[in-house]
Amino acid sequence: MRGFFILPALAISLGVSAQRSDTALKQWEFSRDMSDWKSVSVPHDWAIYGPFDRSNDLQKVTVEQNGEKTATWKTGRTGGLPYIGKGYYRTTFEVPDTAGQVFSFEFDGAMSNPRVKVNGKEIGHWAYGYNSFYINVPAGVIVPGKNSIEVSLENKEKSSRWYPGAGLYRNVRLVTTSPVHVPTWGTYVITPVVSAKEASVRLTTEIAGAAKAQKILVKTDIISPDGTVVATNNSVYHAQGQPFVQDFLVEKPQLWSPDTPCLYEARTTLSVDGKDVDVYNTRFGIRSLEYIPEKGFFLNGEYTKFKGVCQHHDLGPLGAAVNKAALARQIEMLKDMGANAIRTSHNMPAPELVELCDQMGMMLMVEPFDDWSFRPKSQNGYGSIFGEWAQKDMENMVKHYRNNASVVMWSVGNEVPSQWGPDGVSELVMLQDICHRLDPTRPVTCGMDQYGAVIDNGFASTLDIPGFNYKPQYYTQAYEILPQKLILGSETASTVSSRGVYMFPMELKAGAKYPNHQSSGYDTEFCSWSNIPDVDFSMDDDYPWMIGQFVWTGFDYLGEPSPYDTDSWPNHSSVFGIIDLASLPKDRYYLYRSQWNKKESTLHILPHWNWKGREGEKTPVMVYTSYPSAELIVNGKSYGIKSKGEAKPLDYSKRLSMSFYDRDKAWDEDRVQDKAGMERYRLVWDDVVYQPGEVRVVAYNADGSKAEEKTVRTAGKAHHLVLTPNRSKLAADGEDLVYITVQVADKDGNIVPDDSRAVKFATKGAGSFRATANGDPTSLRLFHLPEMDLFSGAATAIVQAGKTPGVITFEASAKGVKPAKISFVVE
Ligand code: GAL
Repeated sequence: MRGFFILPALAISLGVSAQRSDTALKQWEFSRDMSDWKSVSVPHDWAIYGPFDRSNDLQKVTVEQNGEKTATWKTGRTGGLPYIGKGYYRTTFEVPDTAGQVFSFEFDGAMSNPRVKVNGKEIGHWAYGYNSFYINVPAGVIVPGKNSIEVSLENKEKSSRWYPGAGLYRNVRLVTTSPVHVPTWGTYVITPVVSAKEASVRLTTEIAGAAKAQKILVKTDIISPDGTVVATNNSVYHAQGQPFVQDFLVEKPQLWSPDTPCLYEARTTLSVDGKDVDVYNTRFGIRSLEYIPEKGFFLNGEYTKFKGVCQHHDLGPLGAAVNKAALARQIEMLKDMGANAIRTSHNMPAPELVELCDQMGMMLMVEPFDDWSFRPKSQNGYGSIFGEWAQKDMENMVKHYRNNASVVMWSVGNEVPSQWGPDGVSELVMLQDICHRLDPTRPVTCGMDQYGAVIDNGFASTLDIPGFNYKPQYYTQAYEILPQKLILGSETASTVSSRGVYMFPMELKAGAKYPNHQSSGYDTEFCSWSNIPDVDFSMDDDYPWMIGQFVWTGFDYLGEPSPYDTDSWPNHSSVFGIIDLASLPKDRYYLYRSQWNKKESTLHILPHWNWKGREGEKTPVMVYTSYPSAELIVNGKSYGIKSKGEAKPLDYSKRLSMSFYDRDKAWDEDRVQDKAGMERYRLVWDDVVYQPGEVRVVAYNADGSKAEEKTVRTAGKAHHLVLTPNRSKLAADGEDLVYITVQVADKDGNIVPDDSRAVKFATKGAGSFRATANGDPTSLRLFHLPEMDLFSGAATAIVQAGKTPGVITFEASAKGVKPAKISFVVE
């Protein structure tokens, strides 16, 4: 955890006794060619403004991990956006006085290959676009008065399997300290003893700039979540270049968990000759992590399953440019779904995400990359720099995030082709050792997909926690064979669905494709390697040693438009998400919610009931609910009561004696037979005949009493626009966001679920229009222009607060329907 922003008003011009200052560099000039410069605010993603084009990073490749044998044109693989090539940023900053000060720059991530010059002199370089790095500025480079900083970046083609973004897409800070100071990521806090009664806290602090044998007073206060000092350690450090260790006792600690995200702070003050020279704050949580063989994962002594999602880093229509309000919105939605964990697949997260997970209560598996050196998946991807950079990147990642309460596990990679042989095992040992050395408190995993190979060559048995991607059919066997006696579904499901689009007949299918380039909203379709969510639910439910799963993915992302990835332009974004690219929940959201959210009830009906042309045809109805049973009544006719759990779970143990080859074949059949155990988790009425009208569902409690009911009606002619914002007040910080769902309703207020008209947006007052999206993976509408077609009757508009308090007025209008207006307070 980096030092907090301290005394901003005193920034930069302080003398010998200066404390630290931490100044974000926000206003820059940007150019693609060093001649045409324009003003931009950082975080900035130069490619998200488009235009989309099939030829952007068009890749002719063989995707071996998907079982392909020949090279084919992969369209939209990285989002179809112009992120390839060079980009330049420059800005100036004032330093009134440099005496007695040292300077460093912290980059939270820069895409990619950043080279940094200050006053024309190159001071540092990093290769990987996702990692945070810092540069200690050599003495004399920064001068009193005006200084300049320039950053040049370059993205290579064929360097990614998804949209990476481009430019200074994360924050950059100038950090000023005294010569004697705590360096970037210079503390490490652990909590060796944790109970309700007491906890021990151990803080290890690096101290830079001290002369040999210099005496430095180190005073650390431990501050509780309510702001009181609960322990203090005031002791003298005798400098020999070694780190300094301080121990504390905290009585009756407030333990961190996703439900109780209580955070402590260690405030360390360094004093030299009676003068305070640095204050460094380390935020941490007190919680215990126990991974117990056979029994599972325990957080603060409580059995806990990972109800996790994998997330790429882009924020849909905002691109890769990090925004705290957008990340908070994602976490809010995921928590409402009942998720308790995120895997930062397949790269280091933005620090804002980690801090929000600490604060809002979300566990994290932090992962660095998707490729190692042997047979990399992307020709110019991380594999091409692994040899030179892997160790440095790992060290930065672990040192950056090892104090964060939310981080409960490290991952060192994903489906690396080196799993096939001994090279991979030695790469794994090297990476895992770095984690063990820098942070012995958290276990290490890696997403493995080559089951037979990793069992045979020792890769799986070497990991702290064996993590399998899409291998539920092997879990029980892996559990028997492997030494750890715990299994993780490091990547699961990869079910594909488009929000509000349903395909008939409803069937379980791998690789289904349709002329409209969408996938079915019935949540019954998947890829050749994947399955429906229900299969993973049953593995979690049936085995305590299954420590849980990370679903691919929480939100849709730019790039990887499977199953429309091969010569299928204009598809350019994923349909794997439980939530679409416009942050609108798909039906699947309620399926996960019905299983994972144990605090609130879920009762959700699908599909919608506007099927002009399907009159008299079979139109299956599903109900995703937390209640055990429900009755379906369509236009007054009962289709009977159904109960969950009636279907038998798939029994994979009967396959134990099969060869890997036969097991894979059997799995292909299991995935589509007998509804793959689907009716254990959903209520399905196959024989419903469509007539316009009303679908009513009455849910029952386990004791047979009536619990709740819900109705979906056929909507009439579109009549007016409806705006539903996620909040009514914004902070006047120039970055806060409101997400507004835009829909049309008939004259009685029923939402029209299949409307696709274009809607225009106008934003006035104390904020500005930021972006829009509709979740359609084929839409080539630009995200930053204030007009969007509705997709399955909905789109999202995102409005950003300005820096001055006031009121924002937002208006939506469209042909043939009444407009709608809404306002927000900015304060
Ligand atoms: C996995 C891979 C992910 C994503 C996913 C799609 O094999 O790890 O990055 O490609 O498949 O199903």
